[in-house]
Amino acid sequence: MADKIDGRAVAAQIEDETAAKVEAFAARNGQAPGLAVVLVGNDPASEVYVAHKIKKSAKVGIRSYEHRLPAETSQDDLLTLITRLNIDPNVHGILVQVPLPAHIEEGAVLGAINPAKDVDGFCPVNVGRLSTGTGGLVPCTPLGVMKLLDTVIDDLTGLDAVVIGKSNIVGKPIAMLLLEREATVTVTHIETKNLPDICRKADIIIAAAGAPRLVKGYWVKEGAVIIDVGITRIKGESGKDKLVGDVAFDEVQHAKAVTPVPGGVGPMTIACLLANTVQAAEALEKK
Ligand code: GUN
Repeated sequence: MADKIDGRAVAAQIEDETAAKVEAFAARNGQAPGLAVVLVGNDPASEVYVAHKIKKSAKVGIRSYEHRLPAETSQDDLLTLITRLNIDPNVHGILVQVPLPAHIEEGAVLGAINPAKDVDGFCPVNVGRLSTGTGGLVPCTPLGVMKLLDTVIDDLTGLDAVVIGKSNIVGKPIAMLLLEREATVTVTHIETKNLPDICRKADIIIAAAGAPRLVKGYWVKEGAVIIDVGITRIKGESGKDKLVGDVAFDEVQHAKAVTPVPGGVGPMTIACLLANTVQAAEALEKK
């Protein structure tokens, strides 16, 4: 049987460490770090994510400032808000939930966030820092993936890692983080030929394609480590909704370790957001 990597337990540990840092920051500065959460429109999934982020912030003592804007908000008005948050000394982290409504250019908005407060690590400065290995804030889900890998593999040097998915939020930054740790990285995607053959050679598979049960048992080498970033809501046999990952979990029990869905990568994203917010606050404190 493959070991099940317990994302909830690792996330809880990060949250405990973050809560202690929040308390120490508040003792030094008279108030806790502040996170501005911006949601434009009412995409149901985004509403759930944002509510969760705000609740978890409160749990570790981070002050959150919620900015809910109507779907028809203009890009200029959104940029004006970002400019205000960029210079607000009470705000140490800024998160703009994506996707944004179609009339708003995502790149323009993410690019306007002060890199020192960009707790999602999505702005071009932080993307550049990540790809040149020069610090900065790292996107939360990729950071969470690396922390889970660290619980089962001590040294990634020379290991063959296959990333399935090339999104800006997950696939590309994970590839950069793996390269930084000296893994040999192959980035694949939906158009990749011979995906099963490529995966079969991998010591590490990061599945982030958003395709339920894409990775089959025969794609996986004995003893590989699999991190499943996929999370898709489907109708289960009982008619009830259930969450499924990108990996056919029951077929990969010959792996060394695998993350479950739910309870794997999911809880890590928010834990890393909280950790990034404290990291940003501590860096701003030193300025
Ligand atoms: N939409 C989906 N994932 C994320 C995320 O990690 N951060 C933000 N801001 N929006 C998202």
